[in-house]
Amino acid sequence: MVLWGLVLGALLVFTVGFLCLLGLPRQRRPQEPPLDKGPIPWLGHAMAFRKNMFEFLKHMWAKHGDVFTVQLGGQYFTFVMDPLSFGPILKDAQRKLDFVEYAEKLVLKVFGYQSAQGDYRMIHSASTKYLMGDGLAELNKTMLHGLSLVMLGPMGQSPDASCWREDGLFHFCYNILFKAGYLSLFGYTKDQEQDLRQAEELFVQFRKFDLLFPRFVYSLLGPREWLEVGRLQRLFYKALSVQHNLEKNDISSWISYMLQYLREQGVAPAMQDKFNFMMLWASQGNTGPISFWALLFLLKHPEAMQAVKEEATQVLGEAKLKARQSFDFDVSILHRTPVLDSVMEETLRLGAAPTLLRVVHGDHVLKMANGQEYQLRSGDTVALFPYLSVHMDPDIHPEPTAFKYDRFLDSSGSRKVDFYKAGKKIHHYTMPWGSGVSICPGRFLAINEMKLFVLLMVTYFDMELVDPDTPVPPVDPRRWGFGTMQPSHEVRFRYRLRPID
Ligand code: HEM
Repeated sequence: MVLWGLVLGALLVFTVGFLCLLGLPRQRRPQEPPLDKGPIPWLGHAMAFRKNMFEFLKHMWAKHGDVFTVQLGGQYFTFVMDPLSFGPILKDAQRKLDFVEYAEKLVLKVFGYQSAQGDYRMIHSASTKYLMGDGLAELNKTMLHGLSLVMLGPMGQSPDASCWREDGLFHFCYNILFKAGYLSLFGYTKDQEQDLRQAEELFVQFRKFDLLFPRFVYSLLGPREWLEVGRLQRLFYKALSVQHNLEKNDISSWISYMLQYLREQGVAPAMQDKFNFMMLWASQGNTGPISFWALLFLLKHPEAMQAVKEEATQVLGEAKLKARQSFDFDVSILHRTPVLDSVMEETLRLGAAPTLLRVVHGDHVLKMANGQEYQLRSGDTVALFPYLSVHMDPDIHPEPTAFKYDRFLDSSGSRKVDFYKAGKKIHHYTMPWGSGVSICPGRFLAINEMKLFVLLMVTYFDMELVDPDTPVPPVDPRRWGFGTMQPSHEVRFRYRLRPID
């Protein structure tokens, strides 16, 4: 017993001593941003950061000002909080700030995908071709078909769909967006009933992975959770395997193009399966949660719901479904919905909270808008968290925590693009998609998909909160920095397909 005590004590002293040694050498040099190494050697501020990144950064910002370097798990991150100074970081004319290095490490860990040179360019050129312009117009039609299939079933509208049903709003939105998005991008077999069942099963597993995701990225999983993550990864590799693709029709040109590229580069089929998993995650992890916030805000703000419904009637007419009909309309109406556009932009301002990261290659001088210059060290990471520094800035967005459906409409009812900080016009007034080289290549499809869903819900369905007084739930703080926020608990609602009179 005594011997074990001694061994454990020695181990503890050794570990703490080693961690102290690792942390010690770093001292702030002249011209560098304020350095905060945190309370624990090597770990630094990792615990507080992982617990609630938003609160942690708010505290650091108040303590150190617009630029500061913090230690997180042995790495140094320099946060820049002044949006007027984002330009040089995002443009990176000196090519010293690297987005790819960090992303490659992350996708290897999370999806098992070993990136190759040229992948980034390939993903962006596939997306320019098929998720924008004419390619996007095609995909919008496919998405409407997918939504119709998922929301009405393969036989179209059925009489019993007019009965009231109850569900969790978050589950309802995520489930529909996931299944419609997955089928539209990854294709169908000849049996649509079977496709819907498979998509449902995949959604159940996707949510399990989704819930573990933040702690997986931070390496905080317990042994059982590690095993579970491994099981889920294998399940997704199999379900999305290129072998399976052979049985499918209508795989989107976006996915087909990228897989063809990988084949031509000699990437092994097993690695292509992992690539598919990564694309499933990128394409389906955010649209559901944002659609949830959008519908919830509309349900909580009758004046916004009214404005969206009026606009929907203008573009769609008095849409009514006949028996066995599916949703079908000209998707070009998506260009004529400024009110809904504003609702979505406002929802993204409140619900999307990504972190933008760039690894510094070679010592680099950061020039701030106020003329101040900071020396950044090679190997450190520059980080932006626009949710706090932009979306919640009351100077740019008065009453920043309030949902205002017309915040992004100007006095003529068109899209508002003039926002100011300290009297200066600001270019980055919201950044839900990231920005610069790493901007989300699926953003146009994402917005159209979510708009189609909201339009269908307000046009064809009656819906109400089970408890109209239920407040908007707080966000789950563990997801700050990972993209879109999820609620900390469900909100019950009921809905029915509006009966034909
Ligand atoms: C509400 C929906 C969405 C949001 C808020 C969103 C946001 C983002 C953000 C913040 C990034 C990373 C930016 C960075 O690292 O700096 C990203 C990357 C990405 N997104 Fe989206 N996204 C959404 C939907 C989609 C959809 C529907 C697709 C595809 C159909 C998609 C495809 C991608 C891809 C492929 C990447 C990685 C790009 C790269 O490697 O450079 N996203 N997205």
